[in-house]
Amino acid sequence: MSTPASAWLKTDAPRTDALTEAHLREFAAEVCADLSKPQKELHSKYLYDELGSALFEAITRLPEYGLTRADERLLSSHARDIAQVIPAPAAVIELGSGTGEKTRHILEAFTISRSKVRYVPIDVSPKALARCQQDLADVAEVYPLAQSYLDGMASAVGRRPAEQPLLILFLGSTIGNFERLRAVDFLQALRRSLRPGDALLIGADLVKDRDQMLRAYDDPIGLTAAFNLNLLGRINRELGGNFDLRNFQHEARWNEAERRVEMHLRSRVDQTAFIVEADLTVQFQAGETIWTESSHKFELDELCEMAGRTGFRVQAQWVDPDWPFVESLWVAH
Ligand code: AVI
Repeated sequence: MSTPASAWLKTDAPRTDALTEAHLREFAAEVCADLSKPQKELHSKYLYDELGSALFEAITRLPEYGLTRADERLLSSHARDIAQVIPAPAAVIELGSGTGEKTRHILEAFTISRSKVRYVPIDVSPKALARCQQDLADVAEVYPLAQSYLDGMASAVGRRPAEQPLLILFLGSTIGNFERLRAVDFLQALRRSLRPGDALLIGADLVKDRDQMLRAYDDPIGLTAAFNLNLLGRINRELGGNFDLRNFQHEARWNEAERRVEMHLRSRVDQTAFIVEADLTVQFQAGETIWTESSHKFELDELCEMAGRTGFRVQAQWVDPDWPFVESLWVAH
């Protein structure tokens, strides 16, 4: 028997993208702790306010940023192969769905032989989820959850009918934004919420030519620079900061030892900033940086090893011929 539609709905989701009081306090506390470290940092999750999300969306269309197009090509070419691995009546859960645009291929592949598939997009942006629900209603029964990945997983599997296999989607190389050890912890936690036979499709950007990787994170029209600088703009807007954005410069670096592209904001001058809500004064020396994001790049063997360490076996891997990027299909054992 299937779960009634209402059981999949989360009714306490916030209605806008504005941070709640509790989230603002958490944001202020994290900013305070991270800007007080010897290597100043800011967490990359804060890049995605409304403006940051729009800038990221624009980045995915840049000629230099081939990652999202490679992901989409692979999904459109292999959607049927992926859907075949999961027996009916499957449900699809997507971590960090955004508007779910790329996911249409997968949902359609399920719909060819069966009735509409149940799709649970999980994302922190209620606006993106609202659009997702509207745009994909023709191919799936959409039950959005405006939560963090693991909280959303807990809600989704808590409502899961006994015999329903799951396909989890974790696309776009979002796994690359975790520190490598944190990625393993995260995948182990994800595995604990699954049953044997459930599947995980994970999209990961592969190590490639250094200049090609750097161009993807430092494009000539400055979109990625704007995306990065907006983080300070967001602190000004939401936490009462007084950063002068013109006094910081975007920088993308390839860290060979860690196999990752890092984004930094380099202070152009000696300067001081104050953040009211964090009650923090921060001093910068000219040349000093704030580290804002890491995008780890992977080797195919490494992903197979990660699958083994986190309780999965690799069922299939598909690599894009134009932009080294892999779609790796794992099955929980
Ligand atoms: C969302 N994430 C996978 C992107 C990446 O490539 O790490 C975010 C991004 N940062 C700069 N450009 C795109």
